[in-house]
Amino acid sequence: MTKQNPRSSRPWWRDAVTYQIYIRSFADSNGDGKGDVEGIRSRLPYLKKLGIDAIWITPWYPSPQKDHGYDVSDYMNIEPDYGTLKDAELLIKEAHAMGIRMIVDIVPNHSSDQHEWFQAALKAAPGSKERDRYIFRDGKGASGELPPNNWQAVFGGPAWHRITEADGKPGQWYLHLFAVEQPDFNWENPEVNDYFERTLKFWLDRGVDGFRIDVAHGMVKAEGLPDVLDRDSASPEMLAAQRMPFWDQDGVHEIYRRWRKIFDSYEGDRMAVAEAWVSPASRTALYLRKDELANSFNFDFLTSKWGIEDLKKNIDLSLKAIQDVGAPASWVFNNHDVVRSVDRFALGLQPGTGETTLDRHGDVTKLDLELGKRRARAGALLMLALPGGAYIYQGEELALPEVRDIPEDRLEDPRWNMSNKIDKGRDGCRVPLPWKSSSDSAFGFSGNAKVSPDQAWLPQPNWWGNYSVESQEKDPASTLNMYRLALEIRHKENGLGDGEMEWFDFAPHVLAFRRAGGFICLVNFGGEVKLPEGELLVSSSPIRDFMLPSDTAVWMRTK
Ligand code: GLC
Repeated sequence: MTKQNPRSSRPWWRDAVTYQIYIRSFADSNGDGKGDVEGIRSRLPYLKKLGIDAIWITPWYPSPQKDHGYDVSDYMNIEPDYGTLKDAELLIKEAHAMGIRMIVDIVPNHSSDQHEWFQAALKAAPGSKERDRYIFRDGKGASGELPPNNWQAVFGGPAWHRITEADGKPGQWYLHLFAVEQPDFNWENPEVNDYFERTLKFWLDRGVDGFRIDVAHGMVKAEGLPDVLDRDSASPEMLAAQRMPFWDQDGVHEIYRRWRKIFDSYEGDRMAVAEAWVSPASRTALYLRKDELANSFNFDFLTSKWGIEDLKKNIDLSLKAIQDVGAPASWVFNNHDVVRSVDRFALGLQPGTGETTLDRHGDVTKLDLELGKRRARAGALLMLALPGGAYIYQGEELALPEVRDIPEDRLEDPRWNMSNKIDKGRDGCRVPLPWKSSSDSAFGFSGNAKVSPDQAWLPQPNWWGNYSVESQEKDPASTLNMYRLALEIRHKENGLGDGEMEWFDFAPHVLAFRRAGGFICLVNFGGEVKLPEGELLVSSSPIRDFMLPSDTAVWMRTK
């Protein structure tokens, strides 16, 4: 294996470990039960000590919060519940002073229905320039009473909503691939393009290092909005097995080529990471061509089953595809949309057997959270040793499990109602973080000691304190301390991050690979095996007598 060039000689986003902050659930400075910008600022020392390179903050813009920020009503300001533009500027400045990069979320597929453009469109006439910023169509049927096509919304139900015109009569329909309150923009209208270019510059001028592009594969729809063929009654998955007329259309790449020019016109390796639920890996790689985006989340990896075959296959396919375009990999196991990996790995859900890895109900009776945690820890060491960058989601460093028993009357995710209360939605991975072990101040989430776990915007379960930062700080074997050690090693080891890797044969049930500088990573999916000779750097569970137990990963130096 060739020696690697030093990390400082390449753009930061080829190696970075980025920490995703779901702002509403991270830290609440003003005691209203919702996280905020000042809460993030107060926890920068925690993030610095954790050893991450960048932060991605989920949408912090003014929003009616129908989809918790992913329904934006003003792209160039801050949600008053979260703070002010000044607070945001201060956060960016302080993060930079600590050597932490800042990525903000941009939501270009749709706005909130409260956005001034959509409000103007509702008031304007069919065919007007105001309507043309969104996707309005006449309905089918004798009096336009049927939706323009058969598309379904991701959250459930039809993807079209009929409006009442100014004269009080039923009128046109508009497209919303997500909630009714999230109308899709019309990206064929140059005004939409100009608006987003101004938005990007607005935040770039304030010093952000990059953007996470929401639904990056959705902005362009197939010409003529054709029906989905062979549609079953289900709502479309983000990662559709079938080619859909609203996902991954070739036209999106033109947008990214324009955006890349904007990023490159600024100093300091500004970047974007695509939320493109696209498969196979060769389609993802298209977003990563030299004149497009820097990173794209690896959702094939995220949806892998815990097991040697699936993981190895997906790692190989991804590495091969991105090699062809010269891009770095971006590994991810968790985010605010999927069941936490502790639960997924505990359940050992099998894709393709009716259960999916994103299942939110699962068979709770099969849940072995200790096993899930053990696997999630091993998975973390695997992910952080692979070539490229990685994205971790708040609470992953605490091995937080999914909260499965949020009372139904407290569920907030629009999926719950839109699926007619079939899909509980994503709230279980969004419960506010436990910073302290005792329950006052909502386990330390809130700046107000009187805020109880039940008063946090999503209620915290009574066992939440067992996972607190406070308790894990004190325990050398905690998941938090494992992440800290692994990230510290990752910074020092020149062979980690971007670069080459090489599989080697060790045992049939052990994933084994080498990185430059004599570094090896082993992940054991089966029975105990003897470790090779060398220096043990970190392990995901305790090692005794130099034996590697099952569901355990180690990092070693062998020469
Ligand atoms: C993305 C976000 C998700 C949101 C959806 C609609 O998938 O990650 O949270 O609901 O887009 O904006």
